[in-house]
Amino acid sequence: MKIAIGSDHGGFELKEYVKSYLTKNKFNVVDFGTDSLDPVDYPDFGKKVGLAVTKEDYDFGIVFCGTGIGISISANKIKGVRAALVYDELTARLAKEHNNANIIALGGRTTAKDEALKIVDAYMNATYELRHQKRLDKINKIEENE
Ligand code: RB5
Repeated sequence: MKIAIGSDHGGFELKEYVKSYLTKNKFNVVDFGTDSLDPVDYPDFGKKVGLAVTKEDYDFGIVFCGTGIGISISANKIKGVRAALVYDELTARLAKEHNNANIIALGGRTTAKDEALKIVDAYMNATYELRHQKRLDKINKIEENE
């Protein structure tokens, strides 16, 4: 499984923590930055992960900023991205089951490290339920201005 991750400075520490967990568990993680706590702009990293997930062979992405809000909004501007801001195991599971989210967003200042790992596991262990496809098709049509 190939996973794209990225963050701004507000999500940097949580990104590193989740990255090390996933890497230890033998997942192929590609980190699109940022690489330090120096201030950067979250749209740059939401865009990179969004493009990777929609245009390359990634299974999904995880993005992080202070709250997860700004970077999820940014990633969602890329056509084909369904980025979900998730804040507990339930929202993580439902983001996959109902929305087939291809990116999840977490807040480095709002989500504890141990909780973040449970959230990532809940998302990864969930399966999309095809009965929701009609709604995803409607989202696609919004992207096509239909
Ligand atoms: C950066 O200070 C902060 O605004 C950003 O990480 C994020 O929380 C925005 O949504």
